Amino acid sequence: MDVNGKLFKKFLERQAAYEQQQGKSAAEKQHSKGKLTARERIDLLFDNNTFEEIDAFSTAAPSGGEFGRIVTAYGDGVIIGHGKINGRLAFAYAQDFAIMGGSLGAVHATKISKIQDMALKMGAPIIGLIDSGGARIQEGVSSLAGYAGIFNRNVRASGVIPQISVIMGPAAGGAVYSPSITDFVFMTNKTSYMFVTGPNVVKEVLNEDVSFDDLGGAMVHMKKSGIAHFVYEDEENTIRGLQKLLTYLPSNNLENPPIIDLRDTEERIEERLREIVPDDPNKPYDIKEVINLIIDKGSFFEVSEGFAMNIVVGFARLKGKTIGIIANQPKVLAGTLDINSSVKSARFIRFCDSFNIPILTFEDVPGFLPGLDQEHNGIIRHGAKLLYAYADATVPKITVILRKSYGGAYCVMNSKNLGGDFNFAWPTAEIAVMGPEGAVSILYRKELLESDDPAKLKKDLALKYREEIANPYVADEKGYIDEVIDPAVTRKKLISAFEALENKHVNVPSRKHGNIPL
Ligand code: HXC
Repeated sequence: MDVNGKLFKKFLERQAAYEQQQGKSAAEKQHSKGKLTARERIDLLFDNNTFEEIDAFSTAAPSGGEFGRIVTAYGDGVIIGHGKINGRLAFAYAQDFAIMGGSLGAVHATKISKIQDMALKMGAPIIGLIDSGGARIQEGVSSLAGYAGIFNRNVRASGVIPQISVIMGPAAGGAVYSPSITDFVFMTNKTSYMFVTGPNVVKEVLNEDVSFDDLGGAMVHMKKSGIAHFVYEDEENTIRGLQKLLTYLPSNNLENPPIIDLRDTEERIEERLREIVPDDPNKPYDIKEVINLIIDKGSFFEVSEGFAMNIVVGFARLKGKTIGIIANQPKVLAGTLDINSSVKSARFIRFCDSFNIPILTFEDVPGFLPGLDQEHNGIIRHGAKLLYAYADATVPKITVILRKSYGGAYCVMNSKNLGGDFNFAWPTAEIAVMGPEGAVSILYRKELLESDDPAKLKKDLALKYREEIANPYVADEKGYIDEVIDPAVTRKKLISAFEALENKHVNVPSRKHGNIPL
């Protein structure tokens, strides 16, 4: 084609107009708030020169008499396209706050839906970079319909491709529900917020003053609501975190996660593990130290670090292969299971099972957290989610019991009869219906009442109970534990156990889907 020709000139003019639109003043406005522009985020996310944008020139239709002004800007406030992240294909959309506050109108929604459809068809992750005031008020019901279409696609893609949301400004109104359906939510501290109704509405309806940060800031969603799985201090690190997460994940549910050899020896013996569990059963220790001594060095990537800290979940590698770890944390609430820890770990297990990620459980749990608050708020229903998620998962599942494994918590934490493929115990394991003190109080109530020295009798009986019942050997002899192992060789045992399970296949009965206790 003649480059000076009329047709090509028009093409160049459009390109120039598009570049001009992503103007300096909009960038300055974002930067002054500590935020990047949509384009800068996309550039950071994808490998150099790999991002290909589509629908850059879509524009919103004129308002046609609907309320308010519609800015007819190129792209309608969202960039969509595909590229490579660490050399692997991914699809993304990035909302542009400079155009009507990143609000979602019909064209904007159609673009997001289009890239969702492509990601699903190609079997590659979809990433949403969200910076939006929610449904575009001037476009009325068309905006709401647009959101509904996005949610529908989120649900169809759930368990098929990884879906990840990164909140990089406001996510208000309809903007919150797509992230909540996606697998992981990243937030940037101080500059991102998520709420269904903002501080103004809270003031109007409830006459309460609340700041953006206190209502729906990143730390609130990490520590209280549990919606944010990862929080970073700035946008660059948020995007780096997302890139790291992707290294643990397959591109879709038909693939296995990539293998990354960290050159750690398979046979590594860790003598420290023999003494890590304190002699005093009531003394805590840090389960993360155990995890880090066993997995490939430096490979632990924790999920929801600040929420329900009595359970630790995250991705790691064993001989280069991704595994999902669920571990009771004796340092927090003695590692008891409560509502939040049950829900946190159940959802993590569902993710791992959807994406062919084997599950490793480290268990040290005295039981479910007792109390009015837990019972009234539904620990029965929420605890059942964890039970269901473990039993329903068909990926390889291994448990190592380190210390306490009592009562319902024994059953729930991937016990043999729930479907554990290999169940190991350390010599320090205590497996029984309940702890020694509680058990002897019930079994020897009369004797204790009649005793001259009930404290001594209780202590002696508890010791006897520990020797005879609350140890790993009874379960071992009955086959509920496959092997009592030397803690120092746990890594090697796990690597060979997961290798033995590599071709695990489970026949599940035909059904539409199970009915998880939601
Ligand atoms: C249209 C919007 C908009 C919206 C913001 N803007 N939100 N335009 N529809 N939902 C526009 C503003 O008019 C402004 O335009 C520009 O974006 C920047 O907004 P500011 O308010 O100046 O920015 P800031 O002070 O940073 O505040 C950001 C904000 C605030 C917190 C997001 O704009 C806000 O509260 N917006 C409304 C949020 C909300 O209630 N959304 C819910 C919609 S209902 P100009 O031209 O001045 O630059 C909904 C229901 C869907 O989403 C349900 C599905 C389940």
